[in-house]
Amino acid sequence: MKTYKISLLSLFSAVLFLTSCGNNNNSSSGGALNSSAAEKVYVAPGEQDEFYAFMSGGYSGNLTVYGLPSGRMFKEIPVFSQFPTSGYGYSEETKPMLETSHGFVPWDDAHHPDISQTNGELDGRWIFINGNNTPRIARISLKTFETEEIIEVPNSAGNHSSSFITENTEYVVAGTRFSVPVPQRDISIKDYKSNFKGALSFISVDPEHGHMDIKFQLMMPGFDYDLSHPGRDKSHGWFFFTTYNTEEANTLLEVNASQNDKDFIAAVNWKKIEEYVNNGGGTKMPANYAHNVYDESTHTATTTMKKEVLTVDPLKVPGAVFFLPTPKSPHGCDVDPSGEYIIGNGKLSADLTVHSFTKMLDAIENEKFDGEAYGIPILKFEDVLAGTVKSGGLGPLHTEFDGQGNAYTTFFISSEVVKWKLGSWEVIDRKPTFYSVGHLMIPGGNSRKPFGKYVVAMNKITKDRYLPTGPEMEHSAQIYDITGEKMELIYDFPTHGEPHYAAGIPASILAPKSQKIYRLDENKHPYAVLSPDQARVERKGNEVHIYMSTIRSHFTPDNIEGIKVGDKVYFHITNHEQDFDVPHGFSIIGQNTSELLVMPGQTKTSIWEPKQVGVWPFYCTDFCSALHQEMQGYVRVSPASSNLELSWSLGED
Ligand code: CUA
Repeated sequence: MKTYKISLLSLFSAVLFLTSCGNNNNSSSGGALNSSAAEKVYVAPGEQDEFYAFMSGGYSGNLTVYGLPSGRMFKEIPVFSQFPTSGYGYSEETKPMLETSHGFVPWDDAHHPDISQTNGELDGRWIFINGNNTPRIARISLKTFETEEIIEVPNSAGNHSSSFITENTEYVVAGTRFSVPVPQRDISIKDYKSNFKGALSFISVDPEHGHMDIKFQLMMPGFDYDLSHPGRDKSHGWFFFTTYNTEEANTLLEVNASQNDKDFIAAVNWKKIEEYVNNGGGTKMPANYAHNVYDESTHTATTTMKKEVLTVDPLKVPGAVFFLPTPKSPHGCDVDPSGEYIIGNGKLSADLTVHSFTKMLDAIENEKFDGEAYGIPILKFEDVLAGTVKSGGLGPLHTEFDGQGNAYTTFFISSEVVKWKLGSWEVIDRKPTFYSVGHLMIPGGNSRKPFGKYVVAMNKITKDRYLPTGPEMEHSAQIYDITGEKMELIYDFPTHGEPHYAAGIPASILAPKSQKIYRLDENKHPYAVLSPDQARVERKGNEVHIYMSTIRSHFTPDNIEGIKVGDKVYFHITNHEQDFDVPHGFSIIGQNTSELLVMPGQTKTSIWEPKQVGVWPFYCTDFCSALHQEMQGYVRVSPASSNLELSWSLGED
């Protein structure tokens, strides 16, 4: 207890010292960069960026798309949150994407995006991201930039050590941050120790369609599983997870989970477990979790509740799971492009601990154990240690790699990025960040082949970097040029939500295959109208279905009568445009959802339940042509007792 107080105090004063130091640096340089730095980020009007950067939106629940080096924001992709800008999560077609075993959950806390890989290199097919709060993994198409699939993760809570990809996208991995009773049940919180479990879920990805399925869940001891990364190249087949709270405390974790000098990195030989499972190993257990899939041809998502999950007890697969002791509550767990080095970023430490994969295999083979935890062998620290980076910084969180033998680590407390050399562990350079940096990203830095031109630091505190916007400010990202020996800060830009992590990829991989329209002749939506003469209105009891089409600059039909108070009116809108970048919108007065934004060739549905008699207008929300303002219509709503027949028209006086 005493030791804790001293160390916390010293950390706190370090924050004060270093933050004020950072401020001074900033003001003395006046924020001025030399003109060569300005040229490095200047993307002239009409020119395009070299990289895409996908930044998690944190508590926005979404994923944002930026260009590098310009820092320009291109798009916000709705993932876990309802998004009125497009109608995602409001339209009838996309509501199922947000279904869970807890019902409709229109929000989540998005953390770590990761791009699909083939042979350890970015292939640009999909990007995955985790929902931390109600455990989910999403898959987003990098052709349409739309969320195509979300799978809920049972037996998990705080889905944080996610969503990282093995090097042929065999699996997207999701580890629980909070251990919980498995199965969930009504027990005393004080019974945490040895009764709670930490599920590490290996979710298989269909190589053709990308469809996800939980292959197995490894039921680990009740620690907190913080972050993870796959082995690659020589260590392909293994996965590494940092842990904290190996003390298994259930209260006041800031003290009680900082007692052990070392926690663990869990090394999981998933190939071995896969083999065990393929041979009939594991225990099927009842579960209840949602699997939501969006079908591009029907433009519609469906939810399937899955009722079973395969669990694996690590003790049943000898040689598959080991613990690597790692000092000071490690946060980030990063593997270098060669697959040899596993870096533990001990967040209460100044030093980085680097484990050697080769030494780990040797220690396993020669049983160089230092006891066990719940039957899982603990490898001897000295026998797996490759080296220690004496960084001189405080509070290391995350490490990325440039593919040139260098590593870059963020230090939250000392607010800096430190560049160091793999193998010699010497510090080469350090640059301040403004302020309190969390993750950092080098495009492809999480693969065998990084594109080591820029590193983007994602900072938690913005303070004086931008004009103030009241108490709440967007977080700040910073771009450093890393092509030279020393890093050079070249740009600041605001981000949206809280970007916990990002994934970058050369534009040359994604841009050529980015989808421009949906083909109308391939539209299989059951309520689509493929030509305007199919537009119609049908009544089924108090349900009214309006089959409506749009083209510049009118709706077909645009006058509708015979709707009654108490009706449930479905507007099924098909956009007949077949040109790139010509969406039409739809909104109607009193709508209890949001507008719809319908892409060329797409069909979307909005429900409207009129409560008042009258003649009510609807209009297009997207400025689609010079006559956009004329793109409007009326619905006549009669009393519930009315006998007025349904009628609809366009261009009839
Ligand atoms: Cu269609 Cu504005």
